[in-house]
Amino acid sequence: MPDIVIMEKPESVSYEEIHEVLYRAHESNRQKGFVVRTALMTGEQLEKHIGPNGKCFVAMDGDKVVGTVSYRIKKCSLWCVKGPAVDRILVGVLPEYKGMHIATKLFTAVYDAAIAGKYKWIISGTQDQNTLMQEICLKDGFMKVDFSSVKPDHYAVIMVKWLGKCPYTSTMISIMYMAKKAYVKLRYKPGHVKRFGI
Ligand SMILES: CC(C)(COP(=O)(O)OP(=O)(O)OC[C@H]1O[C@@H](n2cnc3c(N)ncnc32)[C@H](O)[C@@H]1OP(=O)(O)O)[C@@H](O)C(=O)NCCC(=O)NCCS
Repeated sequence: MPDIVIMEKPESVSYEEIHEVLYRAHESNRQKGFVVRTALMTGEQLEKHIGPNGKCFVAMDGDKVVGTVSYRIKKCSLWCVKGPAVDRILVGVLPEYKGMHIATKLFTAVYDAAIAGKYKWIISGTQDQNTLMQEICLKDGFMKVDFSSVKPDHYAVIMVKWLGKCPYTSTMISIMYMAKKAYVKLRYKPGHVKRFGI
């Protein structure tokens, strides 16, 4: 098992390298038939996407970047999350390093930052088709809270992990989620295209 070190992205690692890791990590998703837009972003676009209040973390095997995660601070207005939350984004581990709990260690870096910043929520958005990431999030204490149809081509699942006590029961959260999913699927095709032309 390689000796993996998790750290905030040092200056010596460029956002172009982060792009390369994300692009390769998402090979498995492309094989399953879906493309995640952020995996195609250039280094410059990734840096902009994270923004000035966010942070990028890397998993290093020696001087090689083998995994990455970032977060940005997002003002949320979901039914159950109102206010600034830590939005975990840009998750990827190189194919040959998957299954070694590298993502788990990267996620800990994000949780530590969220707790240190006294944020109440971590949110994580995935494409509806990315069932593996959803399973990992559910195992890790996230709950599916919202569903939307996103331009240009997919549905998205929004998951939340409460860092303090969650004021809602899990039954209430799943009813709200299922109702929103049913509404969105009836109203829109993937990509925010209205059904029935109206
Ligand atoms: C999702 C991803 C980041 C996971 O990285 P990883 O380092 O392999 O994950 P970990 O080894 O930390 O595994 C975390 C948990 O998920 C489980 N898991 C990981 N891959 C799995 C798989 N293919 N099938 C079933 N379970 C899996 C692990 O067993 C572990 O659970 P455990 O703690 O109970 O053992 C990686 O597969 C990846 O880069 N995927 C493509 C990019 C992507 O989809 N990113 C998310 C965009 S929203």
